[in-house]
Amino acid sequence: MAAYQTQISGADAPVAVDTLTSSAEPCPSTAHTGQTAGVFELFERAQLTTDLEVVEQLLLERAASRSELITSASTHTVRSGGKRLRAALALLAARLGTYHLPSVIHAAAAVELIQAASLVHDDLVDQAARRRGRVTVHARWDNDVALMVGDFFFALASREMALSPDPRIITYYAQAVQTIVEGELSPVTMIEPTETALGQYYYKTGAKTASLFEAACKAGMAAGGGDEAQIAALGRYGFDLGMAFQIIDDILDFTSDEATLGKPAGNDLRQGTITLPLIYAVARTGNPRLGALIEQGTPTDLQVHAAIAEVTAAGGIDAALAEARRFISEAVAHLAAFPPSPAHRALVEMAHFVIDREA
Ligand code: FPP
Ligand code: MG
Repeated sequence: MAAYQTQISGADAPVAVDTLTSSAEPCPSTAHTGQTAGVFELFERAQLTTDLEVVEQLLLERAASRSELITSASTHTVRSGGKRLRAALALLAARLGTYHLPSVIHAAAAVELIQAASLVHDDLVDQAARRRGRVTVHARWDNDVALMVGDFFFALASREMALSPDPRIITYYAQAVQTIVEGELSPVTMIEPTETALGQYYYKTGAKTASLFEAACKAGMAAGGGDEAQIAALGRYGFDLGMAFQIIDDILDFTSDEATLGKPAGNDLRQGTITLPLIYAVARTGNPRLGALIEQGTPTDLQVHAAIAEVTAAGGIDAALAEARRFISEAVAHLAAFPPSPAHRALVEMAHFVIDREA
């Protein structure tokens, strides 16, 4: 840590981490699933682990506030941080160019802080009880705290962007946040006609998820000194990777369980959210009952299980998986703009991880 503190020029003096109020809950991080081992091995192979730990340390330091309440709630969120895929993308993108950790660390931290802000607010809007195996901020504290902590993370992200050496990084993230908010308020309103449903689904998915993957890649590439063509190519990789990531997320909502996901499964059907497996299932069967279930509002557990079985039998899961694979092929194709290197290989592996992941 000491070495890192002296490396980061322009960062404010870090707050001692041992002064942070620790959460009463044990810190499971990704303990709700053993499957993420795959991505951590990938990070290890890419010699990314140490740098990601530095990012993690920075996030914990930034989570400390003069308000004990904000420190507790933001530390609670950072400690349940997930896989840090977006930070890893920023670091790997920088490694395609000229890698210097102090030049890219703020871009890597910023994207995780934006992600934290959006998830705390998303859980508040969805009134979700659990995220990554932990109780959500609004459930553990209250709605006001969740609103403020999301804003706090967003302010922290802005500060990290301001510390980034290349001003384009602020533009990429500002654009992504604007797009995320627009996407979040653009529901998929109909299952049929299929073309309309797909158009709405792809717009929303691109906006709420893929745009931040794209921004992380562009920010990392800019921090690594990439030119405009390289930044654009890697942004397209990130966008397609993010599309596949969200499609797999939507598939897992049908095929997985709460113990593996760290959040309830079947939630999309319960909340009337139309996602790709359902759109394809209805397109293939023309089964109006599936659409009616979504429209009726509050289906029972029995109805949800029956709908999951019907969507699976109709080939909705397989069709969505094929679509995710198509996005991954396109993502990998964008990497052809870069010569072979360990970072290039890690980005290809990351694409395969996104498809194979179970949580
Ligand atoms: C998760 O989607 C939610 C998002 C990817 C974005 C949420 C964005 C906002 C609430 C807008 C505020 C944004 C910022 C940057 C402060 P999901 O609900 O489909 O997934 P889940 O099942 O994991 O909740
Ligand atoms: Mg949600």
